[in-house]
Amino acid sequence: MKILAIETSCDETAAAVVEDGRRVLSNAVASQIEIHRRFGGVVPEIASRNHTLAIESTVRSALDEAGAGKDDIDAVAVTYGAGLLGALLVGVNFAKALAYAWDKPLYAVSHIRGHIAANYIDSDLEPPYVCLLASGGHTAVLRVDDYSRLTCLGQTGDDAAGEAFDKVARVLGLPYPGGPEIQKLAAEGAPRFHMPRPVFKDGGAIRFSYSGLKTYVVNLVHTLSQRGEDIPRADIAASFQAAAVGQLTEGAAAALRSTGLGKLSIAGGVGANALLREEAKKVAEKAGASLHYPALRYCTDNAAMIGAAAYFDIVSGAEPAPLTLDAKATVRLA
Ligand code: KG4
Ligand code: ZN
Repeated sequence: MKILAIETSCDETAAAVVEDGRRVLSNAVASQIEIHRRFGGVVPEIASRNHTLAIESTVRSALDEAGAGKDDIDAVAVTYGAGLLGALLVGVNFAKALAYAWDKPLYAVSHIRGHIAANYIDSDLEPPYVCLLASGGHTAVLRVDDYSRLTCLGQTGDDAAGEAFDKVARVLGLPYPGGPEIQKLAAEGAPRFHMPRPVFKDGGAIRFSYSGLKTYVVNLVHTLSQRGEDIPRADIAASFQAAAVGQLTEGAAAALRSTGLGKLSIAGGVGANALLREEAKKVAEKAGASLHYPALRYCTDNAAMIGAAAYFDIVSGAEPAPLTLDAKATVRLA
């Protein structure tokens, strides 16, 4: 089954053709990062306008690269939420128009489920497993019971991990998006500042928190600059990264213990972080679990993950979406 998938939830206009959920025939991404960088973050209205400009050529590239036309495509899939409403609407409306014109079933996919399904690409991972999800909008540990059912084991009580990476990067004078920049700067520093992180008690609830950590860095930088002292940016980046990653992997370890499952996967943009992958490997080894994560290009936003999620929804019995499908700024995690 070949699915044409479309994703426009934030600042990447993306389209892909995915075969049977695990094989990517094409993965086109038109990134707006350079456009938003001058504003220090994504400007929703500018994102929508640029999706409108890029959507047709991006879908065309995905089809051309896959060598696929109307007759080869079995279904159209699109991210309907969560994300920026105006941005989502561009993808949803394009997908609806194409599904109608080509007379193909349309499937509505949650962006979060897409990030999780990125783990199926080029892999033989099968549920059940524990998934650590960390992106710009979400931070949670989930039990993936089967291809269509998730149970949330714990999530952030305030900010998402990626949001903290982006805000801390801004305070340190680094460009958007902050995650890769913090990782680069942290490599030149030492984690010598002990920064706040939640404590995970066995049997207790798993709850992440990033707002205190972010405020700690903001206050540290302001205090040092008020005193006219040098700001050890690399050490601060390394300390922040260690604390941010530490709570993610501790949460994952707690979830492995409480579920007794033998597989751990990582999903979302923060999942591209090298320290997180290294620390998650230790956690998985200690728990006797296997570790799974997507290739870097499928960690951050892309449409291949949406095509993968749609395939497993379809084989799990999901119904096509009506042409009245609407975009949603928020969707339930599980
Ligand atoms: O999944 P994603 O592309 O979009 C959302 O669904 O939010 O995640 C974007 C987030 C950004 O906050 C970005 O700074 C972060 O992922 N990110 C990273 C890295 N690469 C991207 N965070 C830490 N280390 C990285 N290498
Ligand atoms: Zn995302």
